[in-house]
Amino acid sequence: MASLSIKYMGLDLSSPLILGSCGLTNSVDNLVKAEQAGFGAVVLKSVFEEQIKYDIEKTYQSGGNISHSQSYDYIAHYQEEASIDKHLRLIRDAKDALSIPVIASINCFSIEGWMEYAKRIEQSGADMLEVNYFDLPTHFEKKADEYYDSYFKLIRELQATVTLPIALKTSHYFTDLAYFMQKLSYTGLASLVLFNRFHSPDINIEKMEISNTNKLSKPEELSNTIRWVGILSEHLRCDICATTGCHDAEGLIKLILAGADAVQSASVFYIKGIEYGREMVDGLAKWMDQKGYATIDQFKAKQNYANIEDPAVYFRIQFMKCMAGIE
Ligand SMILES: Cc1cc2nc3c(=O)[nH]c(=O)nc-3n(C[C@H](O)[C@H](O)[C@H](O)COP(=O)(O)O)c2cc1C
Repeated sequence: MASLSIKYMGLDLSSPLILGSCGLTNSVDNLVKAEQAGFGAVVLKSVFEEQIKYDIEKTYQSGGNISHSQSYDYIAHYQEEASIDKHLRLIRDAKDALSIPVIASINCFSIEGWMEYAKRIEQSGADMLEVNYFDLPTHFEKKADEYYDSYFKLIRELQATVTLPIALKTSHYFTDLAYFMQKLSYTGLASLVLFNRFHSPDINIEKMEISNTNKLSKPEELSNTIRWVGILSEHLRCDICATTGCHDAEGLIKLILAGADAVQSASVFYIKGIEYGREMVDGLAKWMDQKGYATIDQFKAKQNYANIEDPAVYFRIQFMKCMAGIE
């Protein structure tokens, strides 16, 4: 029987499938289900500094008589503490209930927020920290270097603040994606989680308003993840955790073949339940047995661009007749 165990961010995982950060990872019951279903680790729902600050502002606005700024400061502090405490309790409860690693996730906007939350997460016993950070380049006065600097500064300061292994979960919306991901991998990050998937805007033409669309990924989105994992895996100095579009055992196998050290999925479990993780993990083991692989390392990256006969398949983007096979 094939062994699915791997090392990810320096820790031993019983399988390469990780339940990605989402609403499902916000309760201990679900996390226990994930462990039983064969996930190698779980990433808790992100703590969003923006959400906490938004909730505080809402409370302030609804409590019309809180006019004095000292009262506001007191209530804001109390409410922020309560929100963070709730999350820290989830980390502690998850650590008590699970034997698989618990990865905490944060998304902040102030440097003080990042450091404070990271420190407290470390004290609560999380095994690793996933930094959910992407600054959508929407500022007309801000050049690429300024965006990039913010990533390096954040990583540097977090590394000076906590000793937990750190993963950065970010996006593929960068002009020089290969160059930038490689530079990020040289910073001492334990992993790059490639790539996060974001809320996408739509327009409701009946109600004449902006709405959200595509809340869950589709399996078709896997190919972009395969492309970039396949190109980058040979060149990064940290682990790669692939995410977006992996909905079944086949997707899991493909991402490992492209060079992923681990894989995070979320959307498919909203559709099929957390228990479906078992089918994915068993499917991986069955395929390995059929192919004669005893360990994940024996086939990891076998199909990345450096290990195949025609690496150009990863770089081709145009539908030329000779490649697309359809007209
Ligand atoms: C409902 C929902 C909530 C999510 N919340 C978070 C979050 O809080 N933090 C985060 O880093 N990613 C979040 N994600 C992104 C997932 O962790 C995952 O990276 C992304 O959905 C791509 O994987 P998938 O194609 O398997 O869904 C969320 C995804 C979904 C569907």
